Amino acid sequence: MIDFTKILKEYGTPSYVYDIDTLYQRVDYLKSKLGNRYDLVYAVKANSFIAKHLENKVARFEICSPGEFDICDQLGISHQKMVISGVYKDQETIERIMMNDDILKYTVESFRQYQLLESLARKHHHPIHVLIRLTSGNQFGVSEEDLEEILTIYDKDWILIDGIEYFSGTQKHSLSRIQKEITYLTEYMATLEKRYAIEIEELEYGPGFPVFYYQGDSFDEEEFLEEVKKILDTVENHKVTLELGRSIAATCGYYLTSVVDMKTNQYGNYVILDGGIHHLVYYGQTMAMKVPHYELLPERDSESFDYHLCGSLCTINDFLVKNITTRKLEIGDTFVFKNVGAYSSTEGISLFLSRDLPKVLLCDGDRILLVRDTIKTSAINFPNNVEVEE
Ligand SMILES: Cc1ncc(COP(=O)(O)O)c(C=O)c1O
Repeated sequence: MIDFTKILKEYGTPSYVYDIDTLYQRVDYLKSKLGNRYDLVYAVKANSFIAKHLENKVARFEICSPGEFDICDQLGISHQKMVISGVYKDQETIERIMMNDDILKYTVESFRQYQLLESLARKHHHPIHVLIRLTSGNQFGVSEEDLEEILTIYDKDWILIDGIEYFSGTQKHSLSRIQKEITYLTEYMATLEKRYAIEIEELEYGPGFPVFYYQGDSFDEEEFLEEVKKILDTVENHKVTLELGRSIAATCGYYLTSVVDMKTNQYGNYVILDGGIHHLVYYGQTMAMKVPHYELLPERDSESFDYHLCGSLCTINDFLVKNITTRKLEIGDTFVFKNVGAYSSTEGISLFLSRDLPKVLLCDGDRILLVRDTIKTSAINFPNNVEVEE
């Protein structure tokens, strides 16, 4: 049990709290449902603060930018666990990364990326393993035509093609969609193996497992994962790895934000919180009509009232929840929003209004670690070299 009262007293709000025990339980749960055959790859973009704690829990890390590489590198995450991915790979960064000659793999997201990777591998006399990302019909990955062009011309001295990567989106709860994708991929891999007399060792597949964030959502995850396993089990002759972000990270995270003002007008009771939609990102546009799972501190009995929970941004859109019915609120009360471990801290529009970034805390057993203090974004939004009269 996380002692939120203690955290509040010591660190205040707004803040994120990531609980490592919950994270471990979550990964163990996914592994127990999916079985040992499927290695997990953690998509660092979901939350870099918990990456180091996943080192012994997942087989690999999917790294999509120079920044993500630097974070994982400085955390001492083994290069042997890194898949260098991303739709834009610049030469300088790739060359810098290639100096670490123990990087596990790179992904190829375009024909130009293939050319870049091959030329750098040749230049540095350093063969590299790659996965070619097959597009699902968007700006990511290569077309079948480009993939086959690469298979025809690639230089086997420098490029070792291990397999295919495929990711078509997040929050996928349709089993038939996953079935369709797996059928397409297995059939296409078989065609490629025949046509090019090659062996495709691996499929790195992003299933985009969903997280159900709101009260009233109903989803039998156990049954869903059992069905997904059955679909994956039909893939023969290829190692399948599963790239996941949201499903691994979401449940371990909490976002703490406190009531700083309250007002009532003809449209309702408005509550101003010290956080806002720049910090709290679940998925998609729910227009704040759904109520996320939350706790309210301190515990207090009272009759219920209806409120609109607003953040502290200067935009009419800054609603965390509209029409929430909850006990009587007072200045200083704190909402603990649950399931914010994935994407909230990375996807938020955190520079808007030059508000400070929240603190980030890790709960590791009884220990609470401040892993990022408040950061002032006013410095980031500040125009340097402007003459200011004294
Ligand atoms: C290539 C790739 N793999 C995996 C993921 C993680 O997706 P999710 O968080 O839905 O598991 C993403 C997310 O954008 C992605 O782009």
